Amino acid sequence: MEIMHKSLLTNGVNPHAVEARLRQRLLSLNITLAHLDRSRGPRIGESGQLIDHLIIESSLFRKLTNHHWPNLVQAHGTAISMWPGLWLIPLPSKHGEKNHRDQDPFWVAVLYTDALLHCEQLHQVCERQGHDYHAIVQQIDPTCLISEAQLKSTASMITWLHQDANELTIQSTQIQTMSSELHTLHEELSLLHKLSTHFPVSQPPDVFLSQTCEDLLQVMRLSWTAVQLVEDEPRLNELSGRIFIAGSAGCDNQLLQHIGRQLIAMEHRTHDPMLVDDTNQVDIKHLPQVAKTLLAVPLMRENKLFGILFGGDKTDGSAVSTIGTPLCTSMAAGLSIYLENTMLYDDMHALFLGTLHALTSSVDAKDTYTHGHSERVALIGRMLAEAAGLDDHMIERVYLSGLVHDVGKIGVPETVLSKTGPLTTEEFYLIKQHPIIGTRILADIPQMHDLIPGVQFHHERWDGNGYPEGRRGYDIPLFGRILCLADSFDAMSSDRGYRQSLDLNGVCHNIAQCKGTQFDPDLADIFLQMELQPYHDLVKVQYRAARQERMSA
Ligand SMILES: [Fe+2]
Repeated sequence: MEIMHKSLLTNGVNPHAVEARLRQRLLSLNITLAHLDRSRGPRIGESGQLIDHLIIESSLFRKLTNHHWPNLVQAHGTAISMWPGLWLIPLPSKHGEKNHRDQDPFWVAVLYTDALLHCEQLHQVCERQGHDYHAIVQQIDPTCLISEAQLKSTASMITWLHQDANELTIQSTQIQTMSSELHTLHEELSLLHKLSTHFPVSQPPDVFLSQTCEDLLQVMRLSWTAVQLVEDEPRLNELSGRIFIAGSAGCDNQLLQHIGRQLIAMEHRTHDPMLVDDTNQVDIKHLPQVAKTLLAVPLMRENKLFGILFGGDKTDGSAVSTIGTPLCTSMAAGLSIYLENTMLYDDMHALFLGTLHALTSSVDAKDTYTHGHSERVALIGRMLAEAAGLDDHMIERVYLSGLVHDVGKIGVPETVLSKTGPLTTEEFYLIKQHPIIGTRILADIPQMHDLIPGVQFHHERWDGNGYPEGRRGYDIPLFGRILCLADSFDAMSSDRGYRQSLDLNGVCHNIAQCKGTQFDPDLADIFLQMELQPYHDLVKVQYRAARQERMSA
């Protein structure tokens, strides 16, 4: 309500609207109106009968209204006589004052009484304009004539009509102002709500930041908006130092980025919203090339600066003012929370991945012959998931499942894992337990539940001759069928204690041979079409790392 009150004071009531409303009311009551203008002369209003034209357009009427001008200007709610039977009631000033300004034209209501029919002045007017007096008198509508006694009440009625018209116009203005401000508030609240619903890192940061700039641009009606992020915050990762822009600043992004960096340097000192306009002399290089006025709000969280939200020039050409500061500050607070959430999410993800890698390294370390195996299976699994058309989330989960697919080997004795000769029945039984042990390990970690199918079923075969359950065909979950192929490919491509590795052609030949027996035939076909260079690159990296490790040991 405070905002509305302020706007009414600023806007006021439109005097032309009041005057027009009053004239409309009087015309509907068949009251003739005349517009008095000292320089141009009187003229009749929107309608009028012949008698009205004769009188108002006569030189006598002009002469008399000029003569009585001082009285007419001063009159308020009273009738002034021009000649017998002819009265004028000045309508209220369009400036809302009781009296009219000296030379300003204004409207009068023209009233006739019975005395008009017998006055000398009407004779004179008819004669000068070539009309027959008696014929004119015959044409006068008797209902247009009022008694002298009604003059006072008619003048009062006009005053009340003016008050009503004024009141109606005030209310109409209030409703329009409220409606406009409610619309703006609704837009701002919708924007803030939209922003808050995206806090839980529900979309990629670059999409979110670009969209937020776009939304702010629309609501604030700015020519352009931008978010410039600081360069000295390593936790921002790939977002560090980047700029996101909506609208057009009429320059290349580098120039806007240069301005953003200068603003960040200033915000490091002030930490406050900043309005740059004609009233202050802020020295920002190249600013005149992109905006006359600019609003900048820091992205702060616990006294730490992440970046700056800034925008320039209104689309309607008006100056950017502090009115938009609260909205921009709320937006900046929301963006800061979002960025912090993003950083926390990245931290957690990095910690999660680090834990998985540590886990797989400890598993691989137990088995001398499978060094780096889990990493390679994860990579092949991811490549196969991509080639099979899985979405990004599933591809990532297949990768993670590949990393931990053999985690159950932690529960298998090293002597069995490292044995070079043939396994006894009992030893093979122990080996076959690792998918079950792995499943039990991951069952206690809710965040890894969706990785379990790859761990539990990567030794199942399409023909049902695998382990631990002997599932067949599509009863084997997709992650199990993908990792079965990835695991077998790496096993065949690597030296093991009990046999030498096969070359790539040999491996691919075996996979083609085992389509529909060991492997899902569709996945095998996709696999055989895949470009395997990333796998060979990883093998090289692992080989160099292992050699380095041996040399430094
Ligand atoms: Fe395995």
